[in-house]
Amino acid sequence: MDIVDRIIISEEEIQNRVRELGAAISRDYAGKTITLLCILKGGLMFLCDLAKHITQPVTYDFMSVSSYGDATETSGVVRITKDLEESIEGKHVLIVEDIIDTGLTLSYLLKNLHSRNPASLRICTLLDKPANRRVEIPIDYVGFEVPNEFLVGYGLDFKQLYRNIPFIFVPKRELIAD
Ligand code: IMP
Ligand code: MG
Repeated sequence: MDIVDRIIISEEEIQNRVRELGAAISRDYAGKTITLLCILKGGLMFLCDLAKHITQPVTYDFMSVSSYGDATETSGVVRITKDLEESIEGKHVLIVEDIIDTGLTLSYLLKNLHSRNPASLRICTLLDKPANRRVEIPIDYVGFEVPNEFLVGYGLDFKQLYRNIPFIFVPKRELIAD
């Protein structure tokens, strides 16, 4: 089945932008080691590509979160289903996320991570969907601003599928209708 309704960001556009972000991050963190904190699973594809274009020393760590309670309405209460393996105290932490939508997930995570006393804490998101924002989030690096539509590909899933597709697209309506 053809699953693509409309391509929003092509593979080439993503790769070009990721290269630019990597260069900007490398400049901004000159002389520092960066802890890339990937939010699983959506941030994984972005992390892998982004890290290739960072010229400073980096380490990786991973966190998994899920929204707590009522699944239909994002509550902002987030459950950490996989925590970091290493302490971030005194480290320069850069959160690598696929998309910021309401901002509730990151708002919770920022508070949680700040309390662990990193030397710095910044956010790099591939996509920013500002139309749905419920809490203001200080985003340091953004790949693309996207319209308020349900998107999949390059990390973004529908029922865990399509994360591996190398571009970002609006899926056919039949695909996500139930
Ligand atoms: P929020 O910013 O707390 O609303 O949550 C952001 C999370 O919701 C992201 O990390 C994604 O996992 C998911 N998400 C938001 N918008 C989309 C989308 O268009 N497609 C797939 N997942 C999305
Ligand atoms: Mg995510």
